[in-house]
Amino acid sequence: MHASLHFTTTNTPPSSSTLPKNPIQITRSPTTQITCKILINPSKKTLHQKTQKPLWPTLPPPNTKPLLPQVNPIKPNIYQSRLNPLQKLAASLLNTIETSLIEPLEKKQSLPKTIDPAVQISGNFSPVQECPVQYGLEVVGQIPDCLRGVYVRNGANPMFEPAGGHHLFDGDGMIHALTLGSANRASYSCRYTRTSRLEQEAKMGRSIFPKPIGELHGHSGLARLFLFMARAAVGLVDCSRGTGVANAGLVYFNGRLLAMSEDDLPYSVKVKGDGDLETIGRFDFKGGLDRPMIAHPKVDAVTGELHVLSYDVVKKPYLKYFKFGASGTKSRDVDITLDQPTMVHDFAITQNYVVIPDQQVVFKLSEMIKGGSPVIYDPNKTSRFGILPKNDVDESGIQWIDVPNCFCFHLCNAWEETSEVGDPIIVVIGSCMDPPDSVFKEHENNPIRAELTEMRMNLRTQESSRRVLVPGLNLEVGQVNKEVVGRKSKYVYMAITEPWPKCSGIAKVDLETGSVTKHLYGTGRFGGEPFYVPKRKNDSMGNHVEEDDDGFIMGFVRDEVDESSELVILKASSMKQVGLVRLPARVPYGFHGTFISEQDLKEQA
Ligand SMILES: [Fe+2]
Repeated sequence: MHASLHFTTTNTPPSSSTLPKNPIQITRSPTTQITCKILINPSKKTLHQKTQKPLWPTLPPPNTKPLLPQVNPIKPNIYQSRLNPLQKLAASLLNTIETSLIEPLEKKQSLPKTIDPAVQISGNFSPVQECPVQYGLEVVGQIPDCLRGVYVRNGANPMFEPAGGHHLFDGDGMIHALTLGSANRASYSCRYTRTSRLEQEAKMGRSIFPKPIGELHGHSGLARLFLFMARAAVGLVDCSRGTGVANAGLVYFNGRLLAMSEDDLPYSVKVKGDGDLETIGRFDFKGGLDRPMIAHPKVDAVTGELHVLSYDVVKKPYLKYFKFGASGTKSRDVDITLDQPTMVHDFAITQNYVVIPDQQVVFKLSEMIKGGSPVIYDPNKTSRFGILPKNDVDESGIQWIDVPNCFCFHLCNAWEETSEVGDPIIVVIGSCMDPPDSVFKEHENNPIRAELTEMRMNLRTQESSRRVLVPGLNLEVGQVNKEVVGRKSKYVYMAITEPWPKCSGIAKVDLETGSVTKHLYGTGRFGGEPFYVPKRKNDSMGNHVEEDDDGFIMGFVRDEVDESSELVILKASSMKQVGLVRLPARVPYGFHGTFISEQDLKEQA
């Protein structure tokens, strides 16, 4: 994990003259946008300041033409000429402050593994260049008919080499798309999601937006924040169109593929007829959405509704719930009262409720003034889940049930049951992580555990219980059949996150018995989140029409020994591989994906 970075340099280093050409009116406080991210405190390794270079390895012919036609860097002198005298002066002054004050301050700091670029973007975590559509991929085995469509997976792919701290989550969003057709036809492409941030940085030829996790901590983090706010105030950068990277989640809703990170509005990305991807733009649901949404919204397959949480780390209310009807109309916000801003990466729904985790990893911005991280584990807080009726218009009906010392970064599913004495029970399936802040903070002598766990909450007695379903095995990023999200599911498909953070295989877990069927990728081969695709969707009445393992599982796999990438397809009932697609380019390890059927693609907006 300490492998060196290897990058091809094709761009000029940053210059004071590579700033935006036009003054931009700031209509929104940059502070609100920036502080919606998660931050961390460095403590161990020496930070090596580097000249920033694009992180695009050169693709072999025939793909040698420019791959980012919309975000090609503009020549510095053009930028310089388009700045007014005041902006030129401000740009020069702020660049001097950056190089003479902030960068030396950062160099004095040390970096833990969690934000050390040499760890975070090494090996197959390192970025790749965009890849235009490549057709005629070699297929081994048979692609099942139900997989006709496109599998898309999001991930972090930093465009520029980090100057300082960098967490894997900080990278620019890139989507990898594998299109599967009849007669074993397969094609592949990958594209950056053209966020406002990415387009501005590409034009400037440098990274200029703060990296929320890798940089914004302690005094240097505050300095970075103020520097960025100053640049925004004089129109050198534009925060009015968000600062997010859109690298985490993907959801297909109401005819649109949305790429999300939890600090911004989603980005709409079109899957083109030829299998390529095109960023349509930052999507506000036609004016209905004015705040960030977390990267794990939930589609209720029965109602077609999209359920969403949005958190704020600065101002109250720190959390909001809202939903969109199947046609995209937004409900009113439900303000959720929390005593302190809390990291809420994921949540769950049942048939009638929204299940909201309020756990022990919280935001405390004042910690930055003390030189620390604003994201901390609060051992004095009691973890709890809020059970809110889906159709409520305010929070008066929410029931909070304590589940002590529980931290789930991701939840897999939830549903409603009735106890033997007739009490309403909420069952939640999630991967419980310990130490809770392991993703963001190094715990050298306390290796991470992420165990699949069932939480049961009694809505009458307010009591809860926990049961580890698969003790001693690290399982994360789980998926159930999307057709039964919010309803009782028999199986969950989990990534076997060993050796952490790599994924050596997929575990099919029977949620009643806890029995596990593993599919291991083999020596030197690693994947990521498995995605389950059913053979058939629910019927028109929303009735579940097949077993939760009648379908297929797919996911990208990297063979680190022979340096090849592929898509593997498993039959879920047997967990045996039935198909494989050889990929023409390396696919880095990433985050979350989804599958869009051929039929759904035809109805794309
Ligand atoms: Fe996630």
